Amino acid sequence: MEKANILFIGAGRMAEAIVSGIAKSDRSYFNTITMANRSNKEKLMHLKDTYGIQMTTDWMKAVQKHDIIVLATPPKTHDELLHMLTPHISGQLVITVAAGIDPQYMEMRLPEETPVCWIMPNTAAQVGMSMSTYTCGQFVESRHRPFIQALLDAIGPAEELTAGQVHDLTAVTGSAPAFIYYTVKALEEAAEAYDISGIQARKLVVQMLKGSVAMLEEGHDPQELMEQVATPGGSTAEGLRVLETYGVDRILKQAVEAVNDHARTNGKESG
Ligand SMILES: NC(=O)c1ccc[n+]([C@@H]2O[C@H](COP(=O)([O-])OP(=O)(O)OC[C@H]3O[C@@H](n4cnc5c(N)ncnc54)[C@H](OP(=O)(O)O)[C@@H]3O)[C@@H](O)[C@H]2O)c1
Repeated sequence: MEKANILFIGAGRMAEAIVSGIAKSDRSYFNTITMANRSNKEKLMHLKDTYGIQMTTDWMKAVQKHDIIVLATPPKTHDELLHMLTPHISGQLVITVAAGIDPQYMEMRLPEETPVCWIMPNTAAQVGMSMSTYTCGQFVESRHRPFIQALLDAIGPAEELTAGQVHDLTAVTGSAPAFIYYTVKALEEAAEAYDISGIQARKLVVQMLKGSVAMLEEGHDPQELMEQVATPGGSTAEGLRVLETYGVDRILKQAVEAVNDHARTNGKESG
């Protein structure tokens, strides 16, 4: 492939996050970018004006003119969409960003030897900071990889894993941001109890988090960093003692398992 024409089926938050990232890069991998949804023309017009893309509400007519098809619609739409796509596929790379839709699922529904890829981003894709995981199907060749990489680069760092690992680790990369926001909310509420404004509480907590992340990015181990903060017999050690008494580490691991149990049950239900 030289420069590729890329078609997004689904023009929601995730498709926009990827396209906005591509628009900020040098676009050296992509020629035409087309976005499609079912009915929301206003949204498509906004995307067209903002990112200089093409738009359509009749994606089936557009498939054959594109080299890469990205499915950015809910997981439950995939069975039907892949069925509709099949007659129009002749070697295009098909990518999905939907939870639970792995390469095997797509390969079973698309024409034989179709190259497929499953990318699992998280919501921070909207600010170019997703920690994405991804896995490629058996027919992806080295010529496809620069395009997959360019899409990933548009939304943040990525790690290639096996399909099983992408399923299991979506709990950590995809769902755990909600666990962090839950913690932030609790700390903000605790701060506000000491007579400061919500704005002040947000600033204190967010900057504390940024500093903690910066220390981790320096390569320090979390245990070492905890020991730096909590001198034995000191006040922080008392706070950690409460977390340990309630087994917060165990509770977090249970939360990861609960996400995975639910995802597996859902996967079985959607076939
Ligand atoms: N948002 C995230 O942070 C995130 C993170 C990881 C993975 N994902 C995955 O990304 C996918 C899209 O999520 P999103 O947050 O972007 O959702 P969204 O904002 O709700 O957008 C969904 C898009 O899909 C279109 N659509 C729905 N059903 C369709 C169908 N049958 N045929 C054609 N288009 C259809 C919708 O079009 P209309 O507007 O016309 O209905 C809309 O453009 C999901 O599979 C989700 O699991 C999202």
